[in-house]
Amino acid sequence: MKTAVYPGSFDPVTLGHLDIIERSARIVDELVVGVLNNSSKNPLFSVEERVNMLKEVTSHLPNVRVESFGGLLVDFAARCHADVVVRGLRAITDFEYELQISQTNRIMRPGLDTIFLTTDLEYAYLSSSIVREVAQYGGDISAFVPEAIAERVLGKFVGENSFGGPEHEQD
Ligand code: COA
Repeated sequence: MKTAVYPGSFDPVTLGHLDIIERSARIVDELVVGVLNNSSKNPLFSVEERVNMLKEVTSHLPNVRVESFGGLLVDFAARCHADVVVRGLRAITDFEYELQISQTNRIMRPGLDTIFLTTDLEYAYLSSSIVREVAQYGGDISAFVPEAIAERVLGKFVGENSFGGPEHEQD
């Protein structure tokens, strides 16, 4: 049984993430999507909300489960009995960072390999912060996230004007 973990912040999950999940679920027996509970980031969605959104959009994939994790990815992978980490590569700019993470993880846990899937060209430009930014200003995000998620992202900004959203509150 080959188990892999696909870690990330997923704030929110995008169609690009879903593409990587669907493709990697065809490669491994079991895929655990790990939602990072990172207290140093100031996420738009709580970790529970992010886990629930991911559960909803992956409910058609029987070999995918979703969990949150804190601490080191290598420890989460060990708890999941996974020896593979899946990451998506969107552009060459992702590469250096991803290489550094995967090599560090291999030093900490030899035997933990990272496989990289090239993101579908359609989603190569996409990121969660782009989605949050467009939504903050009332833009159409239906091409970026699953339909059920779009409603929830826009719901976070209801009643806020262009200068009062969470991004500006951090400034
Ligand atoms: N489609 C669309 N967007 C994608 C994407 C895809 N296929 N792949 C990545 N992205 C985007 C994300 O939306 C996110 O966008 P944002 O920064 O605009 O919000 C960005 O790329 C970062 O991706 P994410 O996958 O969420 O990575 P991360 O940098 O938040 O976290 C971890 C990466 C989880 C692998 C890493 O932080 C980790 O392992 N943390 C645990 C602690 C640890 O072990 N640290 C030591 C590692 S050396």
